[in-house]
Amino acid sequence: MSTTILAIESSCDETAVAIIRDDKLLSNIVSTQIEVHKKYGGVMPEIASRLHAENISIVLKEALEKANVKLEEIDAFAVTRGPGLIGALHVGLQAAKTLAMLYHKPLIPVHHLAAHIYANEYVKPLIFPCLAVVVSGGNTELVIMKEHLHFEIIGETRDDAIGECYDKVARVLGLPYPGGIPIDALSKKGHPTYKLPRPLHDHSYNFSYSGLKTSVINLVHGAEQRGEKINVEDLCCSFQETAIGMIIEKTMHAVDEFHVKQVVLAGGVSANSLLRAQIVSKLQGTGVDVIIPPMWCCTDNAAMIAKVGMYLYEKKLFAPLDIAVDPNWQIDHYEEF
Ligand code: KG4
Repeated sequence: MSTTILAIESSCDETAVAIIRDDKLLSNIVSTQIEVHKKYGGVMPEIASRLHAENISIVLKEALEKANVKLEEIDAFAVTRGPGLIGALHVGLQAAKTLAMLYHKPLIPVHHLAAHIYANEYVKPLIFPCLAVVVSGGNTELVIMKEHLHFEIIGETRDDAIGECYDKVARVLGLPYPGGIPIDALSKKGHPTYKLPRPLHDHSYNFSYSGLKTSVINLVHGAEQRGEKINVEDLCCSFQETAIGMIIEKTMHAVDEFHVKQVVLAGGVSANSLLRAQIVSKLQGTGVDVIIPPMWCCTDNAAMIAKVGMYLYEKKLFAPLDIAVDPNWQIDHYEEF
């Protein structure tokens, strides 16, 4: 007997619906709001919620048509419950609850970052123990998985997330949102000539990005006051080497200490060219497997929600219809609902 799951994602600025039948992805529709938020230099939560509400039924209809599936054929409705923007999450959860209630099918709450990790299974299966390097606009975490759906955070950022730091640095340099993309592109044309601090350069698995962000801001403002010109390409290159260097260093340390068999990248910053290249080259010849997610998995989508949804369906981890969103849901508190 096959299982068909419809998944919904609306945690930030993408409204997405996907349909999966066993391990076959039947449709994966994403409507991004990025062009709207670009004008403000970041995601405006109130606008995001409103656009999710306007778009969700259109995206849902398109996903059903593309998959050639009727709502009556869906066995369960999976949805992102958190972390994310509270109003944005509400739209997806409300839609999923309504469908689950109407069609008398289970509601499956999915953790957004667990989904980013499981997106890697569209490439190949996870192998345990696995180290997930979770790097996004809201999170910077090293997560050990000893088995499916079991997540242990061994280190995380003490302040800003790496993606947030990229976005703030881009803004001070006058580059468009989301800042990771132009910084990554410009850094390829530059040299690491600027000396920047490497905070939390220690043996813990924790990170800190606010000091790095502040030093770039101070450097740019100082140069402006003195009437000096900044070499943007060199500054992007210096920043990227420092920001990604911290991730690589602690990842390699964790690989050794936890004897992991596989490393996977997850989250928006896993699109970064330096991170992708370095993780592959550092692990080459070590016997540790690595999954580099395809670019379509790095941005938010519902295919990844569907993937986790299928594992949760097998474990019957369903939620009651009065469940609320959890904007700060911790990945290591998975079964608390
Ligand atoms: O996963 P995601 O959507 O983050 C959250 O919303 O939590 O990823 C968005 C983040 C942004 O901060 C963006 O600047 C960053 O991912 N990003 C990148 C790159 N592409 C996107 N950061 C570094 N290099 C990139 N190529």
